[in-house]
Amino acid sequence: MSLSQWTAVDNYYNNLLLPEDDILDKVRQSAIDAELPPIAISDAFGKYLELLVQISGAKRVLEIGTLAGFSAICMARALPENGKLITLEYEQKNADVSRDNFKQAGLEGKIELRQGAALSSLQDLIRENSEPFDFVFIDADKENIPNYLDLSLKLSRKGTVIITDNVVREGEVINMDTDDEMVKGVQKGNEYISKRSGVSSTAIQTVGEKGYDGFLLTVVE
Ligand code: DHB
Ligand code: MG
Repeated sequence: MSLSQWTAVDNYYNNLLLPEDDILDKVRQSAIDAELPPIAISDAFGKYLELLVQISGAKRVLEIGTLAGFSAICMARALPENGKLITLEYEQKNADVSRDNFKQAGLEGKIELRQGAALSSLQDLIRENSEPFDFVFIDADKENIPNYLDLSLKLSRKGTVIITDNVVREGEVINMDTDDEMVKGVQKGNEYISKRSGVSSTAIQTVGEKGYDGFLLTVVE
């Protein structure tokens, strides 16, 4: 089994199930044009997030790590009329590209982007007594996953769904001797969530055009 086969199967299903999407195509192109790293989620995972937001009936979504706004647009599309998505992005360039993309998608009314270190923005939201979020997508620097989980849980309520991306990392997650700070961040996040009471979690491994990785699904009890 190889990346080319996983990509071919992604293409097969995407052709069958996902409609042509000029907006998302433009978002991908904008990331290439701005020379952002090619680490946006796949089309299939974008649709999966959209469906999860829909299934959960979320009205308030929090995203940590915007990049060019691909996943934010996918999730915001599933929000009701009065729904809101707050997305946090460290890089000014990514924030500029994303704000453009939100306008192009006609979603600037539903999506608020806060540029800066996500740890500070999360503390701001806590200080502001933000209403709890119904759905959280953690997809930023992996070193801070334990902190992002901890702060997201402070902004959650019973039933909040938290998805953490990239928790398998080609299987490196089980290498306890790793020197990779991103893998260490994932491992510390896993340890944190395993010891935390009042949450229920599972990890799902994925293969596809983005390689071999996975995500953690956590629900607040
Ligand atoms: C990386 C980050 C991501 O969010 C991702 O989906 C894939 C890779 C990275 O920083 O390596
Ligand atoms: Mg990711």
